[in-house]
Amino acid sequence: MQIGIAGLGRMGMNMALRLMQGGHDVCCYNRTAAKAHTLARQGARAAETPHTLAGMLTPPRVVWLMLPSGEATRRHIELFAALLDAGDILVDGSNSFFKDDAANRAVLLDRGVHYLDAGVSGGIWGLDNGFCTMIGGEKPDFERIEPLLKTLAPVDGYLYCGPCGSGHFTKMIHNGIEYAMMQAYAEGFALLESSPFRDHLRLDEIASLWNRGSVIRSWLLELLEAALADDGALSGLEPFVDDSGEGRWTVQQAIESGTPAPVMAQALFERFASRGSADFSRKLLAAMRNQFGGHAVRKIDPLNGRRS
Ligand SMILES: NC(=O)c1ccc[n+]([C@@H]2O[C@H](COP(=O)([O-])OP(=O)(O)OC[C@H]3O[C@@H](n4cnc5c(N)ncnc54)[C@H](OP(=O)(O)O)[C@@H]3O)[C@@H](O)[C@H]2O)c1
Repeated sequence: MQIGIAGLGRMGMNMALRLMQGGHDVCCYNRTAAKAHTLARQGARAAETPHTLAGMLTPPRVVWLMLPSGEATRRHIELFAALLDAGDILVDGSNSFFKDDAANRAVLLDRGVHYLDAGVSGGIWGLDNGFCTMIGGEKPDFERIEPLLKTLAPVDGYLYCGPCGSGHFTKMIHNGIEYAMMQAYAEGFALLESSPFRDHLRLDEIASLWNRGSVIRSWLLELLEAALADDGALSGLEPFVDDSGEGRWTVQQAIESGTPAPVMAQALFERFASRGSADFSRKLLAAMRNQFGGHAVRKIDPLNGRRS
């Protein structure tokens, strides 16, 4: 089947390669043209502009956006709305906020262009392992792109979730769970690291062990095992953890629906704290203890900025 992919980052490039390996006709566009040319050397057709990409495809066309969510995705939906025709399908494969989907769909619907929201999971390993894909939109549109999904995903690794927004909603919750699982592993291994048995415990060996038949085995734990095997102390890393939106939206959803999700919320707040945003509240705690009980505080030397 033919597909146009716009956005050849870590995800889009690997998805394009997997589709090509599966025998699909891939046309591609990327802001930095060199990436599209790289893919062209492997058999894709490269377009220099979204306009050229739309012109390359045979109607009814399928264009899959794999861009950062928010402004970049929105701008490209508006762009392709002007380039595509009635009966074409545009798929947003980014981690878009599910509440943006209705507005994005409306932009395309004016032109008779169909819209699918796709939550994609698999990261940089998806090329080999397949991309787990969650689709929202009209079911006949999902059925039209199913040959692509069959190739992209591992066996039984894609699902029609429901109406517009439900694919991104499902992916958002998936990522909320991911935050919480990662936090639990991180805390458990930190407890091993600080334990009285620390000199005897090999953290990579324990991760490896737990991946063999234990209740908490998982792919995340396999990745952790690999990271610990490289450097057991993770000495080259700063304790700084970013987030890209889905965790915040999951917690907002928990508040809006009155559904308790304290573990996911805590995992999100831990990421904020890792970036120093808890420093002031921690100083306030120290100051209050000092005020009411005269408890000692640690001060920063004003001359060299170091802790005393
Ligand atoms: N990485 C993951 O594990 C993962 C997993 C699931 C879903 N996702 C989602 O998949 C999407 C793509 O992620 P990624 O990891 O592939 O990102 P990435 O590696 O950072 O690549 C981003 C892509 O978008 C293009 N781009 C960025 N800003 C643009 C703009 N303003 N205008 C036009 N093109 C722009 C980049 O073009 P240039 O090459 O010119 O920079 C690049 O092709 C995101 O929505 C992400 O949340 C990522």
